Amino acid sequence: MKLLATTTLLVLFSSSVFAQDAAKGAQLFATCVQCHGDQGHGDPAQQAPRIAGQHDWYLLSSLIAFKKGERQNPKMLPFIKNLTEKDFKDLAAYISGLN
Ligand code: HEC
Repeated sequence: MKLLATTTLLVLFSSSVFAQDAAKGAQLFATCVQCHGDQGHGDPAQQAPRIAGQHDWYLLSSLIAFKKGERQNPKMLPFIKNLTEKDFKDLAAYISGLN
């Protein structure tokens, strides 16, 4: 029984550090594509960086930093300021899976 519980935990945590919902992240990502591209490859013309395949924890910490104003990004702020930390986690799960 103990072994089964351990195995279940490993399966739950193996894909990501976070409890997330990549399908929800895909929906939220619709507002990001105009700058970051539909595959997250970025757009030099907008100075929007590639974010596809980036680590989920880095995407999450970046989004939190932008929302708090620790990182300044006046272009992107309107698109993320009303999102929750759960939204950020879902987005991070989705974007880290792009390549
Ligand atoms: C209006 C254009 C625009 C939109 C829309 C936009 N971004 Fe950005 N994003 C940028 C720009 C420009 C930067 C670079 C900011 C800087 O100089 O640090 C950036 C940076 C980022 C970074 C940091 C990347 C790194 O390597 O540090 C992440 C993560 C990110 N965006 C995610 C998102 C997500 C998720 C969305 C949708 C919810 C989104 N962005 C919507 C323009 C945009």
